Amino acid sequence: MTTTTALIEPVTLAGLPLTSPFVMAPMTREHSPGGVPTPEVAAYYRRRAENGVGLIITEGVLVDHPSAGHQRDVPRLTEGAAEDGWRHVTAEVHAAGGRIAAQLWHLGSQFEGDGAWTPQTMSGGDFDALLRAYAESARVAVWAGFDAVEVHAAHGYLLDEFLWPVTNPSGRHRDFPAEVVRVIRTEIPACMPLIVRFSQFKERDYSARIASTPDELGVLLEGFRNAGADVLHASQRRFWEPVFEGSDRNLAGWAKHLTGLPSITVGSIGLTRDFARSARMRELLDRRARGEYDLMALGRVLLGNPAWVKLAEAGRHDEINDYRKADEEQYA
Ligand SMILES: Cc1cc2nc3c(=O)[nH]c(=O)nc-3n(C[C@H](O)[C@H](O)[C@H](O)COP(=O)(O)O)c2cc1C
Repeated sequence: MTTTTALIEPVTLAGLPLTSPFVMAPMTREHSPGGVPTPEVAAYYRRRAENGVGLIITEGVLVDHPSAGHQRDVPRLTEGAAEDGWRHVTAEVHAAGGRIAAQLWHLGSQFEGDGAWTPQTMSGGDFDALLRAYAESARVAVWAGFDAVEVHAAHGYLLDEFLWPVTNPSGRHRDFPAEVVRVIRTEIPACMPLIVRFSQFKERDYSARIASTPDELGVLLEGFRNAGADVLHASQRRFWEPVFEGSDRNLAGWAKHLTGLPSITVGSIGLTRDFARSARMRELLDRRARGEYDLMALGRVLLGNPAWVKLAEAGRHDEINDYRKADEEQYA
């Protein structure tokens, strides 16, 4: 049976008009030799923008500091060649009617380097140096034509290491991620959305938590809001899972409920061909319609199905591919 559901409809996110409430989740792809995104990267993002994705959040882009990351083919956000590469990417996405946010990334202690390197505790001038690095990359993002900036404070990378009691048992500098947000807010236009991505889970520990109660989460997210964040992107592995006992709200639901800010949900949307006609799909849309969250981000499904939103909307389910791990090896 072929059914048609309106999925692609205009929405506004913190003042930014989008053609659809679907977002491309940030996914590291390592196709930017020497940190410079190529025309192939621009075509890759443009293809999603042409096919029903309203907002693209780029793969994690390394901020302007040597400690930010080690992978040669992960893009950077620095003046010069990388900036020019990104300018082409943003122009292509805009030509397709899309919008694009740069995800600012620093790996923290997950930097692997060349074996001689061991993670060090940040001290003294390191804090100022990193604030400057985030500020510089945010400035370059504006010059390169991005519509928004997302701060990666999830999954156990640098900023999340301050939030997680396992990597920061004393709780010192727990407000450093909010300081980063504050500095970026002063670098980008007041009307440009500033998104913060956070998570309970860590890549090295799926059961990890930065907050064990709504109150604890509220304190943390208020810190981001007061520092100038306008959107919260709540990273979850499965969007339908509750976070705290006594409520079926998901993480994006709590983020919106606690702060009043618009939020983005994510997690295992569309991974099988039948998802778009399943009860889970209905649940995804119903929760949004009830105001639990504002936008819905798609990760892995978009690797092998750049046109998933359009196909799902048109009821062309037979043209949708199940997600396979091997999709991560393709780049098209
Ligand atoms: C190949 C790959 C790379 C990823 N890279 C990033 C990244 O750079 N930054 C980030 O915040 N999340 C990253 N993620 C997590 C995704 O943004 C997303 O939250 C996750 O895949 C869950 O959504 P999904 O179930 O729709 O795939 C990555 C995920 C995958 C599969």
